[in-house]
Amino acid sequence: MKTEVLVVSPDAPDRGLLARAAEVLLRGGLVAFPTETVYGLGALADDAACVARIFEAKGRPAYNPLIVHVLGESSARPLCAAWPETATRAARAFWPGPLTLVLPRDARHVPDVVTAGGPTVAVRAPAHPVARALLDVTGRPLAAPSANRFQHLSPVTAAHVLKSLDGRVDLVLDGGRCPYGIESTVLDLTRETPTVLRPGALAIERLREVLGDVRVREETVGAVEGEALPSPGMLRKHYAPRARLVLARSDALEDALRAVRDEIGENARVGVVRVGEGEARPGVRVLPRDPVAYGAELFAALHDLDDAGCDAVIVEAVPDETAWEPVRDRLGRAAAD
Ligand code: TXA
Ligand code: MG
Repeated sequence: MKTEVLVVSPDAPDRGLLARAAEVLLRGGLVAFPTETVYGLGALADDAACVARIFEAKGRPAYNPLIVHVLGESSARPLCAAWPETATRAARAFWPGPLTLVLPRDARHVPDVVTAGGPTVAVRAPAHPVARALLDVTGRPLAAPSANRFQHLSPVTAAHVLKSLDGRVDLVLDGGRCPYGIESTVLDLTRETPTVLRPGALAIERLREVLGDVRVREETVGAVEGEALPSPGMLRKHYAPRARLVLARSDALEDALRAVRDEIGENARVGVVRVGEGEARPGVRVLPRDPVAYGAELFAALHDLDDAGCDAVIVEAVPDETAWEPVRDRLGRAAAD
């Protein structure tokens, strides 16, 4: 298959271009599109055959369910068998935006393949103008995981999508770089207490302001592939660059470098990602000492170092504070072997 790329304005996408993308979707094809978090790989969510193509293109195992993207609460409700008051509050406060809600699924409107046969469905209303216009013109909910091969780095530019999926997707809408650069927060509202299954672009403190008590599910962090998982995004190895990723404390960067060279060889190409301080040079990236700004640059920096041919990347450990949790989560998984 030849992958077509259409460049669209991220602020005011051209309706004619979007109509072409909608046509591809309505014909049963796959369209990668920008959201405010990362690029998504979209297909018609209410058509099992279309959704199956997503799994095939990504090499994603069928046990890992997908997020269904909608314009807002009124189009999310029919997909859910129940819509608790917490869902109303969360959607009104944070939609459109980087929050995914897990709710009981209405099997009449959501095929098994979307939820991996499970009793719940994940729904999200993205804020990105291109994603919204695509949903609007298509007129149907879109199932969309991040537009990368299974367990690879998430894409934050169209070039990243092509690196992973060229020839496996019909069309890529190139709307530039995704502003958050880190995936949505996944919140399970089917439990007694709202529970974060995946920390992400929407801070947990913001959720607490609106919902009160919110838990964070920690126990899946060590989960092993293939086990039944409440949110298989919690797989230990995930978001990994091609290069080996090594986490090291600020005072142990030199030691880590030594260890990598001892293992891979003196000529190993080793990239470094630092936090806040340090001199940026070829192979050394210095990301901001602010968790949101750092998150926005992380995946792109890892893609760059991969493209530069690094065998290993040493990443300086980030501060041990709650606000850094989404970043720490991605780094921990990328470093898992
Ligand atoms: O920001 C995002 O969420 C991006 C953009 C494209 O919207 N999408 C994304 O999709 O990150 P994906 O497939 O890479 O990650 C979806 C996460 C996975 O951890 C998956 O296991 C979880 O959501 N998930 C999906 N459906 C679920 C469900 N019914 N119950 C629990 N977790 C679910
Ligand atoms: Mg993903």
